[in-house]
Amino acid sequence: MKTSWKPDSWRSKPIQQVPDYQDPAALAAVEGRLSSYPPLVFAGEARKLKKSLAAVARGESFLLQGGDCAESFMEHHPDNIRDFFRVFLQMAVVLTFAGSMPVVKVGRIAGQFAKPRSAPTETINGVELPSYRGDNINGIEFTPEARVPDPRRIEDSYRQAAATLNLLRAFAQGGYANLEHVHQWMLGFVKDSPQGHHYQEIADRISESMAFMRACGVDPDTTPSLRSTDFFTSHEALLLGYEQAMTRVDSTTGDWYATSGHMLWIGDRTRQPDHAHVEYMRGVKNPIGLKCGPSLTGDGLLQLIDLLNPDNEPGRLTLICRFGANKVFDHLPQLIRAVEREGRSVVWSCDPMHGNTIKASSGYKTRPFDLILQEVKSFFDVHQGEGTFPGGIHIEMTGKNVTECTGGARAITDEDLSDRYHTHCDPRLNADQALELAFLVAELLKTSRQGVVQQRAVAGL
Ligand code: TRP
Ligand code: MN
Repeated sequence: MKTSWKPDSWRSKPIQQVPDYQDPAALAAVEGRLSSYPPLVFAGEARKLKKSLAAVARGESFLLQGGDCAESFMEHHPDNIRDFFRVFLQMAVVLTFAGSMPVVKVGRIAGQFAKPRSAPTETINGVELPSYRGDNINGIEFTPEARVPDPRRIEDSYRQAAATLNLLRAFAQGGYANLEHVHQWMLGFVKDSPQGHHYQEIADRISESMAFMRACGVDPDTTPSLRSTDFFTSHEALLLGYEQAMTRVDSTTGDWYATSGHMLWIGDRTRQPDHAHVEYMRGVKNPIGLKCGPSLTGDGLLQLIDLLNPDNEPGRLTLICRFGANKVFDHLPQLIRAVEREGRSVVWSCDPMHGNTIKASSGYKTRPFDLILQEVKSFFDVHQGEGTFPGGIHIEMTGKNVTECTGGARAITDEDLSDRYHTHCDPRLNADQALELAFLVAELLKTSRQGVVQQRAVAGL
């Protein structure tokens, strides 16, 4: 029997990762105000994304999801949003071409603030303070004042998300996403990259295709779909008081939707089936993600699927797998087999970031580019072996030229990390590394697609 659900039914469940607010009345006042503010996204948009993800689940589209590990108040600047979007679109073009299929574009942006932490406190030089939990909760500075959770930050993060989303909508629809411009930027990258000659062939073929289409009269001036794109937002639904305040009934269907972003996901640390985060997420109709780490078993996954997608609705659930480059073969096949055995429709996505974080000799937290690529390759290999579709990637990236992950064509070393290490949380791929990864994934996608076409031909489909 399905138990009843309300936007606040999570409050009666055990919960992980909650900030220790000292003034519950102030928190309640903020949540009260938020519940009357305009929604950031519209239910119809979330349904559109779900439909696009259903196509990914069928192997007809590819999901590109990426952005900051944690957005910050300090880095809230139009140039940062623009530079992220610029790189993200270039990645999308490369993947669209390689896979000959639409790419569903989902940013970790306009709401990705709250961070789960491995410990509630942090000790530096004998001083113990509450851990930093994201700019919507407390400050990153290591002082007692900054680390006190402040409910006013929730309202600030709502306004930042609204402003960010407003600019992204303008970029996506107002001409910035023009395919010919995006392609020109990409050619600039290929020309300047030390590994550019590896990408020249794909770049040339895209140039040729666009010239051909233009000659046929299909160009951004004549064809609106070539000068705009659909871009969606996503974040980890960690701070449930905020999510509850942003949960609204859709007037056209009568269903509940989270309106803080199009897609929300459950973290690997908060996916206990009987706890608060799963309870909240099961009741909203948005497309949702579930982070799957090494501790998840096939049975555990099926139990969560029963709770989160009982009607087996395609596009509803994206499984974001994050095992670590050397653990994919140990964990992914059993999850795929469990899902296939029970005939569940899911999107399989690969997060090659979170299982590959190491401490560099210089003391910085980093991620070697080679391990990131290796995890994606193994993910594609396993799907090839199981006959399932590697539906997407989920990455932490920025449009800036930071030095947070080692390796890549420009071979960032441990010693380079201190040059421009700006992240508020985990190390992100910089602009060049992100685009390089897209070119490398493009090759995998092309091969996997050819495999599927062949299999279908053999099967007489
Ligand atoms: N509208 C199509 C799409 O979003 C084509 C397109 C236009 C596009 N601008 C783009 C694709 C920028 C990738 C990047 O897929
Ligand atoms: Mn992260």
